[in-house]
Amino acid sequence: MVQRDAGERRIVILTGAGISKESGLDTFRCADGIWSRVNLEDVATPEGFSRNPELVHDFYNARRAKLGDPAVVPNAGHHALARMEREWPGDVLLVTQNIDDLHERAGSSNLMHMHGELNKARCAACEQVVSWTMDLSVSDACERCGSVGRMRPHVVWFGEMPLAMDVIYDALNRCDLFMSIGTSGNVYPAAGFVSHVRMYTRAHTVQLNLEPTSGSTMFAETVLGPATDVVPAYVERILSRGW
Ligand code: APR
Repeated sequence: MVQRDAGERRIVILTGAGISKESGLDTFRCADGIWSRVNLEDVATPEGFSRNPELVHDFYNARRAKLGDPAVVPNAGHHALARMEREWPGDVLLVTQNIDDLHERAGSSNLMHMHGELNKARCAACEQVVSWTMDLSVSDACERCGSVGRMRPHVVWFGEMPLAMDVIYDALNRCDLFMSIGTSGNVYPAAGFVSHVRMYTRAHTVQLNLEPTSGSTMFAETVLGPATDVVPAYVERILSRGW
């Protein structure tokens, strides 16, 4: 097989809650994770929002406030991925399941938030998406259509279609390296990206995670450890030697 040079080699990186853990944000499925305290059907489904919008707003308002805490900043893992995008001569697409903004604060720009963004709100009546860093409530009005009580967090709930899937699958179909970082691999479609890449490309696949996951055997390579250690080390390796 003819090796393409680095300038033509494409990298797709998937991140999950684990990369933001050392920045002070909770994961979902760790022993102390969000879903150990909160019922996901209540706060992360369209049905939960219909039943009790105040509860859903309280949940995301608290997470938005936490994200605004000055102590919550990008860590060495986020910075290393921004460095990868700056220094790798080929395309680097970062796909995150996270709704925090720590990747962009670290400097990543070719970034897809497939599960939406905490600092945005959307009108369920007219679909207008707006920047939203304050609390959101049932009395807020849409600035575009004027509907009251239809503003919702711009996040993808269980049962809803993740965002930008056409762009993401296009990049997966053409990638040469697929990296999965800090995700338990429990939620589809992201959990299926590694098998998709293996089926349709000859890409190298690597998982970087604190601990093995049920999908670890799908990856050609697994590196275990905290994201602030293993991500900068892996990025350094790729930039100096490739894979
Ligand atoms: N460094 C690296 N990995 C870590 C760290 C760390 N410091 N801390 C925890 N992890 C790993 C955990 O071992 C776990 O495998 O991160 C993973 C986090 O998994 P989840 O909590 O399931 O988070 P995620 O995979 O992002 O969840 C996917 O589920 O409910 C939803 O919509 C939500 O986007 C989220 C989706």
